[in-house]
Amino acid sequence: MQPLQTTTQAVDTAFYVIFGISSIMLAGIAIAMVWFVWRYNRKRQPVPLSQKDHNLWLEITWTVIPTLLVMLMFWYGWEGYLSLRRIPDDAMHIKASARMWSWLFTYDNGKSADKLYVPVGQPVKIELVAEDVLHSFYVPAFRVKRDTVPGMTNWVWFTAEKPGSYDLFCAEYCGVGHSAMVTTVEALPAAEFQAWLNAAAGTAADPVARGAELAQQQGCLGCHSTDGSRRVGPTFKGLFSQSREVVRAGREVTVTADEAYLIRAIREPTAEIVEDYPPAMPPYGQLSDADLQALIAWLETLK
Ligand code: CUA
Repeated sequence: MQPLQTTTQAVDTAFYVIFGISSIMLAGIAIAMVWFVWRYNRKRQPVPLSQKDHNLWLEITWTVIPTLLVMLMFWYGWEGYLSLRRIPDDAMHIKASARMWSWLFTYDNGKSADKLYVPVGQPVKIELVAEDVLHSFYVPAFRVKRDTVPGMTNWVWFTAEKPGSYDLFCAEYCGVGHSAMVTTVEALPAAEFQAWLNAAAGTAADPVARGAELAQQQGCLGCHSTDGSRRVGPTFKGLFSQSREVVRAGREVTVTADEAYLIRAIREPTAEIVEDYPPAMPPYGQLSDADLQALIAWLETLK
């Protein structure tokens, strides 16, 4: 029907119309109020000037004008909302999976990444999927925010007009790692994006390189540092073959972080909890044995 506007234009137009009308009303009402206080002060005007108790035209005016203004604000809001919910025909499909506490973006050719790469100038439709609890996909630069709800598929669309890196947040409190659930939208020029998309991914032959790639993709690094600092979970640095205190079935035991321990910790993270940390990690049962081996090979290198 009408020429397509971006989500940013849709929201900004409605925002500035409402903000503009509100500012004019605020200024007008405040000035009239101050002027009345001064003009009709009892010292200045001890006797009423008029006994009129109504004025039909004045009443019609102050009913009709605000009604029109409210209708105008509604119209821009409604049009803007429709633009947000009307996906352009040429939109590219990308799936965003939200889980505690990271994002994973999967493209139709099977490629996946922990940052949302998009081509400049092309609309993208983001399918929103929650793997565990409620999260919310929020990109302020494109004015889009939508909850991801377990068991329900939601979506947003937007177009990046300029290349750049834009913040992407989780905007729904989803547990201790909520604040770690941040990443970026990387808008690349079309040719560069195609090159990125077509470059083979998830196929690093060397297990250590593959492990590092998995740690990124699976969101491990949202909660575990590799430099020794404490995050939601314990650091990976120096973890391999270290002995540590864990709570297993309510009892404290000392274990060695060997391969068997690490596999348990990834597959059934709440079975043994490292002392002093919350039982917060979701199980990663979907990783293949080869991927687990790669992750462990990589962990071993973090001395
Ligand atoms: Cu996910 Cu907050």
